[in-house]
Order: sequence, then C-alpha cells, then structure tokens
Amino acid sequence: MNEHLDALVDAVGPSHDDCQSAMLDHAVAEGFPTVGADAGGVLRLLARVVGARDVFEFGSGFGYSASWFARGMDAGRVVLTEYDEAELALAREFLDGAYDVAFAFESGDAMATFGRYDGPFDLVLLDHEGARYAPALARVRAKLRPGGVVVADNVAAGPVDTETLVSMLREDDAPDPPTRDASWDVDTTTEGIGAYLDLVRSDPGFETTLLPVGEGLAVSVRVE
Ligand SMILES: C[S@@+](CC[C@H](N)C(=O)[O-])C[C@H]1O[C@@H](n2cnc3c(N)ncnc32)[C@H](O)[C@@H]1O
Repeated sequence: MNEHLDALVDAVGPSHDDCQSAMLDHAVAEGFPTVGADAGGVLRLLARVVGARDVFEFGSGFGYSASWFARGMDAGRVVLTEYDEAELALAREFLDGAYDVAFAFESGDAMATFGRYDGPFDLVLLDHEGARYAPALARVRAKLRPGGVVVADNVAAGPVDTETLVSMLREDDAPDPPTRDASWDVDTTTEGIGAYLDLVRSDPGFETTLLPVGEGLAVSVRVE
C-alpha cells in the first residue's frame, strides 16, 4: 500500500486549474516556495467546510495559496500580504478576475497590515517567517471568529529541525519553568515554530492537529 500512496494521492488530486498551472510554471522556473498542491487542497477544503468569507494571509508571495482559498469560496475576500512588491504585482496579474472572490493586495509587513483590518476572519494562513508565528497568534486570536481556523505552514520541513522540535515539544522534556507565552525569545525558525506550536497547543481556545502534508500544516480551530 505505502509504495503506491504518493501515486494514489496524486491521482485523486486535487489538480490545478488553468490559473494555477500558470502559477506552478512560474514557481518551478523561479524556485519559489509555495505551499504546494497537497497543502493547497487542504486550504481549499478548509475554506469550504468553514464557509469562509474572510481570509487573511501572512506571506502571500505571488498568490498561489490565495488561489486555493479562492477555489473553496463562492464569495467573499482574501487579503494577501507581501513585502516584495514584484511578487505582489504578479499576484494581482494572476488573480484579478480569475475567481468569484475579491482580493486585497497589501504590500509591507503582514502584522502591520493585519492591525489595519477589523476582522473577524474565518481563516488565517501563517506562511511568512517562522520566528514570527508565535507573536502573530495573540493578534490573530482576537480577530478569528469562533469556529474559525488558523493554519501555520512549514512546521515540519524546510529549515525546521524536527528532532529539535520534538525535544522542545515533548511534555517530559519541556523546559521548566514553562515558557509558554508569545514573548518567548526566538531567533531561529525551529525555535520560532516550536514556540508557536507550544503556544497554540496549550491554548484552551484552540484544538490543534498537525497534518503531515506538504511542508507540514498545523491546523488550529478556535473553539472558545
Ligand atoms: C513561503 S512564501 C509564501 C508562499 C505563499 N503563501 C504560497 O503558498 O504561494 C513567504 C513569503 O512571505 C513574505 N514575507 C516574509 N515576511 C513577511 C512579512 N513580515 N510581511 C509580509 N510578507 C512577508 C516573503 O517575501 C515571501 O514571499
């Protein structure tokens, strides 16, 4: 079974639409790190099951992940944030008019942009810098509706050292005294992801599951 699993997942899909195929060509040509199709399928699924109307992305690149959210929505808005003006211009080119949702293209720091929106949001994607996920969570929490979902990408691969993460997160090995707050001083991606995962899993307001899809998605539903 296992040797055929990747092929089966690939065969079942989801597949790219025309806009996404063009995006994928661009990502491959430029070596740009998108969430990928498997994780994209999860974003579409989540948008559909929560009935998303308002979505916010921390770190949008040229709009690939936003296109997956859009495919799970019949109406509403996706807010894209991106430091890099050239990527954002490309996102506008790819996405404008391509789906049944509105897009807001916001340049500059994602956290500063988030502060300018009232919310509430149905879905939030963290895909900017791992060291900034934990500080973002407290602000996201305040603007995420009950039943809303926050997804953190890249929690299990890429620059993340999973062995270190496991030792940070195993209850037996947890540092004493507990360091579970958003000000946990971090300077590497692994520590940042560890701080985020520790914060969100110990918050009674969220139920969190890590999906081993793409680079690893931490999916947290706001339950109170
Ligand atoms: C992994 S890529 C995003 C990929 C995108 N979500 C997708 O799947 O297509 C991360 C992006 O976040 C941007 N970024 C990093 N820190 C940021 C910040 N504080 N505010 C806005 N954008 C940021 C980077 O310029 C980069 O383009």
